[in-house]
Amino acid sequence: MKVLVTGGAGYIGSHTVVLLIEAGHEVVVFDNFCNASKESIRRVEKIVNQKITVVEGDIRSREELQKVFDVHTIDAVIHFAGLKAVGESVEKPFIYYDNNVHGSTVLFEVMAKNACKSIIFSSSATVYGDPHTTPILENFPTSATNPYGRSKLMVEEILRDVYVSDSEWKIVLLRYFNPVGAHKSGTIGEDPNGIPNNLMPFIAQTAVGKREYLSVFGDDYDTPDGTGVRDYIHVVDLADAHVKAVEKISNFNEVMTINLGTGKGYSVLEMVKAFEKASGRRVPYKIAPRRAGDIATCFADPSYAKEILGWVATRGVDEMCEDGWRWQMSNPMGYKS
Ligand code: NAD
Ligand code: UFG
Repeated sequence: MKVLVTGGAGYIGSHTVVLLIEAGHEVVVFDNFCNASKESIRRVEKIVNQKITVVEGDIRSREELQKVFDVHTIDAVIHFAGLKAVGESVEKPFIYYDNNVHGSTVLFEVMAKNACKSIIFSSSATVYGDPHTTPILENFPTSATNPYGRSKLMVEEILRDVYVSDSEWKIVLLRYFNPVGAHKSGTIGEDPNGIPNNLMPFIAQTAVGKREYLSVFGDDYDTPDGTGVRDYIHVVDLADAHVKAVEKISNFNEVMTINLGTGKGYSVLEMVKAFEKASGRRVPYKIAPRRAGDIATCFADPSYAKEILGWVATRGVDEMCEDGWRWQMSNPMGYKS
């Protein structure tokens, strides 16, 4: 298939492009590089040993998107492009709604105009808000506590409306839990700007000596060791689910909503321990107050993904930490290394 990958130069996108090409698909990457480096594309080209077709453009631009469809016959779109920093979204809601919601509607409109009606959308476990129980099933109630989460919910709803208006659309909403780790080669991985917000890049930068210590946000949650529990999923497992979704998309006759997680939760302190084991380094930490908006426990019931996509996550936390560490060690300054 020929797949347009918006945000294909980013963290999850770049890993997905590798797996798509390895599975024999053709890929067109569309990215404005607002949160990605062109070096990531060069590294992907090295891994797959071929040139990648890249179009530099913004999903908010009809003209830039149309140029892609003028030149390529696209079978399906995997839509990663978006902004993802929760804190920043609270400070700059207009930017988040413009980029994530308006940008997505422009993309869907251009797709429809060009009779391309198959889309896989990057949603997030954040749409479950503070779940009443775990593991989380796809039919749990949704809610959002910040503009980022709301932008994901809005795009989900928009896509459901699109389907109601035209049932030729094939729509898959993938709700990711916590993506971590990196490609085995250690040449592509997560490259956050400035101080990382997320746990794993912060731990990796502490292990490599870039940060003095990790602040553990709260040790008084109702969890086995008091620290927050999450469902960490290896980015390559996540990428693999996208390949499976794209290959099965023509069979779907309703909007598919699918959790992508491992089904297991690990606490902050368990992740610190796993990373210390993988890296052979110490990760100093201090207990700090809870972070606003955090919940105690979040992990998926991933059985629907198995049933519908034939997909299960196969990489455990040791492998997530080993691969994340290899990337961090080989690229202490990310793609600028
Ligand atoms: P990322 O920032 O590494 O990748 C996003 C890519 O989209 C970047 O390459 C960026 O340059 C590009 N982009 C952003 N706005 C654009 C625009 N207007 N036009 C064109 N390109 C644009 O993020 P990621 O971690 O790879 O996440 C990919 C998607 O998955 C995002 O939609 C994110 O919200 C979602 N998601 C991520 C996580 C996570 O923890 N990483 C969890 C759940 C959902
Ligand atoms: N944590 C710390 N110290 C840190 C960073 C995080 O103790 O420096 C803790 C958090 O309190 C939480 C856990 O580590 O208990 C994981 O935090 P992350 O920030 O890595 O991930 P979140 O679960 O808070 O959120 C992430 C993304 C969201 C996304 C969600 C579900 O940031 O955008 O996963 O996919 F919606």
